[in-house]
Order: sequence, then C-alpha cells, then structure tokens
Amino acid sequence: MATSVSSSSLAINGGSKAVAGQDDQLFRWPIVTAEDEQAVLDVLRAGNMSGIDITQKFEAEWGQYLGTKYNLGHCNGTMALLAAMFAVGLGRGDEMILPSITYWASGLQTYSLGATPVFADIDPVTLTIDPKDIEHRITPKTKAICVVHYCGHPCDMDAIMPIARKHKLKVIEDVSHAQGTLYKGKRVGAFGDAAGISMMAGKSFPTGEGGMFCTNDEMIYQRAVAFAHYERIGSDVTDPKLRNQCIGQGRIGALPLGGVKGRMNQTASAMGRVQLKHYEKRIKEIQDAINRFWDLLEGVPGLRPHRPAKGSGSTMGGWYNPLGHYLPEELGGLSVDKFVEAVNAEGGRVGRNINFPLHLSPVFLQADIYRDGKPTRNAFTDRDVRQQAGSLPHSEAAGERCVGVPYFKHDQPEIITRYAEAYKKVALRAEELL
Ligand SMILES: Cc1ncc(COP(=O)(O)O)c(C=O)c1O
Repeated sequence: MATSVSSSSLAINGGSKAVAGQDDQLFRWPIVTAEDEQAVLDVLRAGNMSGIDITQKFEAEWGQYLGTKYNLGHCNGTMALLAAMFAVGLGRGDEMILPSITYWASGLQTYSLGATPVFADIDPVTLTIDPKDIEHRITPKTKAICVVHYCGHPCDMDAIMPIARKHKLKVIEDVSHAQGTLYKGKRVGAFGDAAGISMMAGKSFPTGEGGMFCTNDEMIYQRAVAFAHYERIGSDVTDPKLRNQCIGQGRIGALPLGGVKGRMNQTASAMGRVQLKHYEKRIKEIQDAINRFWDLLEGVPGLRPHRPAKGSGSTMGGWYNPLGHYLPEELGGLSVDKFVEAVNAEGGRVGRNINFPLHLSPVFLQADIYRDGKPTRNAFTDRDVRQQAGSLPHSEAAGERCVGVPYFKHDQPEIITRYAEAYKKVALRAEELL
C-alpha cells in the first residue's frame, strides 16, 4: 500500500485526499445490459405484464438455484415475507421471534396477522440473531422464528434449527440481503421451513421491485398461494379444506385469504431470469473485491471485517450493504461518526449503514395502530412484551460499533487499494481527530 498517502495529513485537516475521482462504474448497480432490456421489452410489447407464464419460468429457475421445490414470485420482499408468516401458520395471538437489527419488513407484518413480534439480540460478531438469546424468549404462544442473514452474513443455522425443532417452531429465513450466500457450503434459504427474499433494485439480486417466497413444504406453499395469489388458487391449491375456504360453489371464483394481491410484475420476472444467468459470476467478483479491501486492512487498528472465517465454507453472497466492525477503544475513543466524516473527506463513500434497533422504534413501543386503547405491540397478547432501552445490549451498541465500507461491484485492485488507504490513513491518524 502506498505509504505516501498515509504519511500526508488527513484531508479533513487540509491534506491531500486518498481517493481522487468518483469511480461511478465501480459502484453502479444493478448491472443492466441489452439482454435485460430485450427481455423486459418483450414483455412490454406483448402486453404481458400481469400474466404469470414468465414468472413461473423464473420461479423454476430460482428454485433450482436455491434448492427449493416450491417458489412463488411476489411484488416485493415485504409481501413474500408476509406470505411466509401466514403460510407457516402465524396468526392471532401467536408470537414470532426475530432479531432487532434488521429492516422492518422482517417482522412488522406480524401486526397485520394479529401476531406479536419478540426481539432477540444479535451476536456482535456475525450481526445476525444470537442463537443463545432465542430459547429463553420462547413461550407457549411462540409459533415461529424469523432469522435474517444480515448484510449477507449467514446465520448460525446449525445452532438455530435444533432449537426450533425442539420447541416445534417454524423457521422463516429472510434472505433479502443474502441471495447466493453459502452457509457451510449450502445456499441459505433452504435451511428453514420457508424463505422470503427481497429483489428490489438495490439488493444484490435485483429485479427492479420484486420478491420471492420459497419452501420445500407443499402445504406451506399452498397456504402462501391461498394468501395472496387468487389467480393460482384453482390450479395450485389442492388441499380440500384450504381450497374450500377460498373457492365457493357454482360460479363464485377464488378469493385470497389474505385479502391482498402478491403477484410479481412480469417485467421484473423477465429481468430476474436474465440476472440469474450472470449472478454467480457477478457476486464472485463482489466477494473478490470486498475480501481484497479487507485483506489490505489486516492489522489496522479499530477495524475488523464482517465476514465468516476463511475456509468455513460460508460466504457473504452478494455482500449487500457491506459493514465492518468498528472498535473505538483502539482509536482513542474516536466516534464512528467522526471516523466516517474523515473517510468521506478522503474521498471515501461511506455511511454508518446499519439498521437502527427495531425494538426501540415507537411503532414497537407506543403506536396504537388498530385503536385498541393500548400499544399494538401488546394488543394481541396478555403480557407486556415491549422491550425498552437497555434490554438488547448488542443491538443497541451496533450503531456505534459498525461502519459502512464501499460496496464495490468490480474487483479493481488499484482503486480498491486507494479506498483501503483512506480507511487506513484515518485509523492510523485517529488521534488528530480527537
Ligand atoms: C432484511 C430485509 N427484509 C425485507 C425487506 C423488504 O423487501 P422489499 O423492499 O422488497 O419489500 C428488505 C428490504 O427492503 C430487507 O432489507
């Protein structure tokens, strides 16, 4: 690494920048080529946006990729996850355990089903749900656990699944950050009972707006169809009891039990089919780039990679929203905000980038959404399940102990070295910022 930059003063204090230029192509996402354009145009020209034939092809190809037998395209990941919650049986009065550090759509849908979210803490190293913090939260009302492979890091499924099986709980995997992530050699999304996956444009697997529900359990699949896909109930829901709930006698058609429509727009499915063809190659390049960045920073105080150990067979997939561990105690107590400001002054492109702890949001502490005269969090349960500040220490500390890192989409060693130099320079000169 060039020592000349490290030896110059910090850009925030008037020194030269470690990173010059904008490098827009390095970060640009999604990668859209003439092949995507043609596939989408074909759908538009055929006026076939609301059909399901292309979506069904995409589902079959996606299922082959992930290792799931039943796959159902959705309009977004939020809807795919809502369908998964309903499909595994979550309903009125049930509880679902999930991590507090995630996007709201890993669990806020519980409210729509009359169910209650219960947050578990994260493991401070993996930033995913801490298996050791799950079991003591299980009550007779607990029906499911939703695990989130956060920022591409796989959850510890070998520890989680036995807990779930012991207590007869269903496991939903939120794979929105981790399409293609390997856990001990196997793609995440097929470990639990069902998975929900965002495929919105910013995700590592992009279709514009879209989502996928996946399962290997036929009955769970049929329930997902019955929930939000009225157009497939007649063909795909064969269970007599479920079918009778959706379809009346005579000329009365099929109605979805969720009262919602989850269908994926076929322009998104068409794009998804093209994206899938190139996906493994593209995420390999992302992994090479971000691993390169972290290898360059080995031994630098205050910074550690967020990634599984080398040789574990686990990967970060498309490494959505890459983060690093930030250790202020090694940098004289420098706050992450100040660190980020200084890296950005060097020409870096960084934010803090971690989700806020959901359990402290007013939506989970105060909001009375359905006018029950009490917070919705407690409206479907007989006890106060709210979790106040101080209750989930690792989730609450994560904002101060994580830092965003550049989301490289291409492995360009020379430029990546400059970005690594920006982080290194600020870390080595942290005392100048105190
Ligand atoms: C972890 C997680 N779950 C669910 C979702 C919801 O997906 P969508 O935005 O496609 O509805 C997102 C992202 O947006 C997410 O980051």
